[in-house]
Amino acid sequence: MKLEIITDPNPILREPAEPVVDFDMSLQQLIDNMVETMREGNGVGLAAPQVGISKQIIVCELDNNIQGESIKKESPYQPFPLTAICNPKITEYSKEKCKMVEGCLSFPGYELVVKRPKTITIEGQDRYGEKIVINADKLYARVMQHEFDHLNSTLLIDHLEEIDTVLFAGGDFALKTLEYLNTDKQYNLKAVVTTSQYATIRGKTDDVNNVKKLARKFGLKVIEAKTLNDKQIKNKIKNLKASLGVVVDFSLIIPKQIIDFFEHGIINIHPSILPKYRGSSPIQATILNGDKYAGVSIILINEQMDAGPIIAQYKVKLNGKENYPILKQYLSELGASLLLDTIPYYLTGEIKPRKQKESRVSYCNTIKKKDGEIFFDTDPVAIDRKVRAYKPWPGVYIQLDGMRVTICSAHIDKEKNLIIDKVKPAGKNEMSYQDFVNGYKTELTFSKKTDSIKTN
Ligand code: CO
Repeated sequence: MKLEIITDPNPILREPAEPVVDFDMSLQQLIDNMVETMREGNGVGLAAPQVGISKQIIVCELDNNIQGESIKKESPYQPFPLTAICNPKITEYSKEKCKMVEGCLSFPGYELVVKRPKTITIEGQDRYGEKIVINADKLYARVMQHEFDHLNSTLLIDHLEEIDTVLFAGGDFALKTLEYLNTDKQYNLKAVVTTSQYATIRGKTDDVNNVKKLARKFGLKVIEAKTLNDKQIKNKIKNLKASLGVVVDFSLIIPKQIIDFFEHGIINIHPSILPKYRGSSPIQATILNGDKYAGVSIILINEQMDAGPIIAQYKVKLNGKENYPILKQYLSELGASLLLDTIPYYLTGEIKPRKQKESRVSYCNTIKKKDGEIFFDTDPVAIDRKVRAYKPWPGVYIQLDGMRVTICSAHIDKEKNLIIDKVKPAGKNEMSYQDFVNGYKTELTFSKKTDSIKTN
């Protein structure tokens, strides 16, 4: 029978467990149920207090045939046999310790870097009361220490060691990362390094740096920089004594000297499947090229732009209707969660960064105002992509007898004809295409070409 797992917070998880005295039928039943519950929950270990029973019993197992393909394929973890121990004592710990990412069935979705002795000797009784001694190493040793903790009211969260982190960010793509880093207790965000960004709105100079605004709202230290090649700025960053840097949507080049301040380097979220689309407009390039997939890459930065080794990647299928703001928002959330999921495994070495394949590198350009101009012989499919990619900036426009008409929204029908939905003639408000046709007595017709651009 599967039992209900108690999740934190719950006072039962904080009560020291009582020794097992009777090795009777009800104990056998309880152990069988614990094993079933552990397997059903895809866990590798379970302690009796987690199912609401304050007894000194732990079970653990890593069987690749039960825990599934995903573990077998990706993991360097050695399987270990089904083990049930009552009244365990750890009699020896190795001096050597190692770090690994740990989860807990009582903390769903939580993964922490935990440092523990690499090998242990554990003594106790088996399910029939016979004395057992187990020498365990690696994951086996770790799991038993974790479960042993549960019997002594110690929880995963008690092992939390904060990772001192600095975020380098300027644009809105970084807002989710800032929010997640600030919320996750595992990170101690020591400062946000950002650039000064101002825009003139209705004659007033306005601070448009949303990263800075959010960082201040969270009460974080903000360092504003025009360049990072400045001795004072360098010293400020160095004095933060952070071990990890994260850089997202940041327009300044980070000099090697600053990268080296961070023991674990600086990690970046790049919204493309690298080495595809290195450069400053990967999301737009994905839409402009009609790609079937978009994605995010988590990389370790080096001195070359977007060229560092890859720590993790995630690919998403597109429906061909996405525009830049929507895809950017989606990828910013995806990138931020992938980043936070990945960092612990990177820090423990359970994920090793791998080099980008230089033979497959492609680049995307910095977008200029002029890129938004189209002509009557521009391919309709290309126009649709441009309208989606260049929203809100630079926008897509055509010169019509000296008047600039912006195409605000459009789509492609089944016959690959361009259907214009909304336009904005210069100096006028946005209007439906039909109102435009009626008012200006003219149509915008883009002919389909047979030697059409590739629609991969
Ligand atoms: Co646990």
